Amino acid sequence: MFKTLRNDVDVVLDQDPAARNRLEVIINYSGVHAVWCHRLAHWLWNRKLYFIARFLSQVSRFFTGIEIHPGARIGQRLFIDHGMGVVIGETCEIGNNVTIFQGVTLGGTGKEKGKRHPTLEDNVLVATGAKVLGSMRIGKNSRIGAGSVVLKEVPPNSTVVGIPGRIVVQDGVKVQNDLDHINLPDPVSDKFRALEQELLRVKKEIKELKREQSQRS
Ligand SMILES: CC(C)(COP(=O)(O)OP(=O)(O)OC[C@H]1O[C@@H](n2cnc3c(N)ncnc32)[C@H](O)[C@@H]1OP(=O)(O)O)[C@@H](O)C(=O)NCCC(=O)NCCS
Repeated sequence: MFKTLRNDVDVVLDQDPAARNRLEVIINYSGVHAVWCHRLAHWLWNRKLYFIARFLSQVSRFFTGIEIHPGARIGQRLFIDHGMGVVIGETCEIGNNVTIFQGVTLGGTGKEKGKRHPTLEDNVLVATGAKVLGSMRIGKNSRIGAGSVVLKEVPPNSTVVGIPGRIVVQDGVKVQNDLDHINLPDPVSDKFRALEQELLRVKKEIKELKREQSQRS
C-alpha cells in the first residue's frame, strides 16, 4: 500500500516540472488528494460499504473538484494535473502511468448498461477538456488531444483529435484523413446534376419512340 501511495507522489515529480519536492506534492496537489481518497473509497466499495464509499467520493469532489466514482478501477501512477472538472465514471478502468488533465470526462453515452465507461490502457494521456464517452478501449501509449470527443475504440500508439475524435498520428506516422476543407461536397448541385442526366435520358427515349412511330405509320 505504501508503495502505491509513494508512486502516486513520485509520478507528479516525474511529470510536472513545477513540482519541487514530495512535501509540496503531498500538500498542494489536489490530483493526489483525489487519487488517495479514491483508493480508500474503492476499498470500501469492494467491501459493499456503498453509501460511505460514495459519501467519501463526494467529500473528495467538494474539496478537489475531481469526481471519481468509487467503483472505478485505477492502476498505479495515475496523474491528474490541475484536476478541476474531472469526472471518472463507475465502470472506468485505468491502467498504469495514465495522465489526465482538467475538464476531462470519462463517461457513458447514456445508451449502455453494465460496463458503460471507457478503459484506458497503460501510458494513455487525455488532454485538457477531452471527453471519452462509452464502453470502449483506448489503446496503450495513445494520446487524446485537448477538447476532443472520443466515441470509438482507439488502437495503441495513436493520437486522436477533434469532434468526433479522429486518428491523426498512428505508430509515429501521420494519418491522411480524407477531409478536404476547401472543396466541400454540395448535395444540392449534385442532385441537380442527377436530374439533368435523367432529363436527357427521358428526352432521348421520347425521341426514339417518336422515330419508331413515324417509321411504322
Ligand atoms: C494531441 C497532443 C497530445 C499532441 O499530439 P502529437 O502527437 O504531438 O500531435 P501533433 O502536435 O503532431 O498534431 C498532429 C495534428 O493534430 C492537430 N492537433 C493537435 N492537437 C489538437 C487538438 N487538441 N485539437 C485539434 N487538432 C489538434 C495538429 O494541428 C496537427 O495537425 P496537422 O497535421 O494538420 O498539422 C496535443 O496537441 C494536445 O492536445 N496537448 C494538450 C496538452 C494539455 O492538455 N495541456 C494542458 C496543460 S494545462
